[in-house]
Amino acid sequence: MKIFIDTADIKEIKEIASWGVLDGVTTNPTLIARAGLGFKETINEICKIVNGPISVEVTSTDAEGMIKEARKLAKIHPNIIIKIPITPDGLKATKRLSKEGITINMTLVFSANQALLAAKAGAGYVSPFIGRLDDIGNEGMQVVRDIAQIFKQNGVKTKLLVASIRHPIHVIEAAKLGADVATIPPPVIRKMVTHPLTSKGIEKFLEDWKRVPKK
Ligand code: E4P
Repeated sequence: MKIFIDTADIKEIKEIASWGVLDGVTTNPTLIARAGLGFKETINEICKIVNGPISVEVTSTDAEGMIKEARKLAKIHPNIIIKIPITPDGLKATKRLSKEGITINMTLVFSANQALLAAKAGAGYVSPFIGRLDDIGNEGMQVVRDIAQIFKQNGVKTKLLVASIRHPIHVIEAAKLGADVATIPPPVIRKMVTHPLTSKGIEKFLEDWKRVPKK
């Protein structure tokens, strides 16, 4: 399973990319606003740091507007993937853009039916938002399970990108279900690398090392 980072925070992307574990980046308008820099500046910086798919979202809601925006965004860098929300207009735009060779990440997916339609329209990726489903008392991972099964049984080539991840168990479950990608916020990636027994183990080794004559 590929690991994307779900943020537009340049400092965090730089740091975690330096660990050698990042395959790509996903952004959205909220994450870009939170990062606090200009839009183009942010995207250009991210493209310099990570050599992999970088999802950038359109903000138009009509198909023609989405198409225009997507064509412009795709020109910024060859690694740019266009995020389009799953709506009838989003599907129309996806059909046209995917025929032009522009890769679409169909976003704000909350059901297996939406994922099925996204794949039909030619999306390269579908992004079920599992944390937001958990937040309203549904089991987000069930949607991932359904999509994984449907895609496998029907030979669908669209990649399953698990989004809106809230904790490390989400990551493990996504990997066990055979998701192609998990996009993970920096705090969750940090939780994935840390373990109290690792820290305790290092502390003990360093303590004992002090007693070893260095000769
Ligand atoms: C995915 O690409 C989105 O940016 C993201 O996962 C949304 O997650 P949230 O529910 O934490 O906002």
